[in-house]
Amino acid sequence: MEEKMKVMGVVGSGQMGSGIAQLGVMDGLDVWLVDTDPDALVRATKSISSSIQKFVSKGQLSQAVGTDAPRRLRCTSNLKDLHSADIIVEAIVESEDVKKKLFSELDKITKASAILASNTSSISITRLASATSRPCQVIGMHFMNPPPLMKLVEVIRGADTSDETFRATKALAERFGKTVVCSQDYAGFIVNRILMPMINEAFFTLYTGVATKEDIDAGMKLGTNQPMGPLQLADFIGLDVCLSIMKVLHTGLGDSKYAPCPLLVQYVDAGRLGKKRGIGVFDYRRVPESVKPNARL
Ligand code: NAI
Repeated sequence: MEEKMKVMGVVGSGQMGSGIAQLGVMDGLDVWLVDTDPDALVRATKSISSSIQKFVSKGQLSQAVGTDAPRRLRCTSNLKDLHSADIIVEAIVESEDVKKKLFSELDKITKASAILASNTSSISITRLASATSRPCQVIGMHFMNPPPLMKLVEVIRGADTSDETFRATKALAERFGKTVVCSQDYAGFIVNRILMPMINEAFFTLYTGVATKEDIDAGMKLGTNQPMGPLQLADFIGLDVCLSIMKVLHTGLGDSKYAPCPLLVQYVDAGRLGKKRGIGVFDYRRVPESVKPNARL
């Protein structure tokens, strides 16, 4: 099946969808990028072109491919344009109801052989598949952020995903130069199942006064050889995203060890969502030196 893959559809042209579409066009696929918001499509087109140019200027992509790739991208707000796609990767808002509605529509619009993949971070693939008449062709294809740079794709098999669908999806990710790991469909899959409890525990460490936020992050960064500490990483991911994944783990696995830390909940309630809001555990707002307290000390 994978041999024949020529056309990819990507639904959702935000951070993740635009990066996934970029991987497709750089690999020579024709890509339809769909978003309900036309402004998001304009932003995505610009960011894809400029990112492709960076690959060319660093010598990681030939000039010929760099010129050809953006021409392979087509943007639309009409889902029906996906009728010729061999695979559709969904990267819309992380809401089970909205995703289920989309999968049910995709099931009606796309050709019978098409694979329907989801980039969801935490929603059950089995439940998304149940909204379609082709659960054996529904699969999780979880790219890491940003997709053009991160080496990993987690492929998640729903209860009914067929071997053929799995093989074709894995082969496509490998064509994109990614390493594939395979997870069964349980809350958090592999990476978030392990990463989020670590981040949650870092919040408990702060909450219970074991150490300062700086010492927690320095301890984990230098003591376990990670590129950044767990609290800073949480700020980069978004504290709202971390909280919602902890809730999925807590509900899905039913163990109190996954209960979100009250401090994480409080930061989200306060709108301290991390770097995207300028403040999370750490403060990213640019305060002029002159108005910082103790600036002259
Ligand atoms: P985003 O908010 O940047 O982009 C989502 C896009 O989907 C928006 O442009 C929105 O207009 C569009 N959209 C929403 N509903 C739609 C619909 N019904 N039809 C068509 N377009 C629609 O979100 P982001 O960060 O790209 O996340 C997308 C998915 O990827 C989510 O499921 C998320 O959990 C997952 N993910 C996110 C990662 C991240 O670090 N941001 C990492 C891995 C997975």
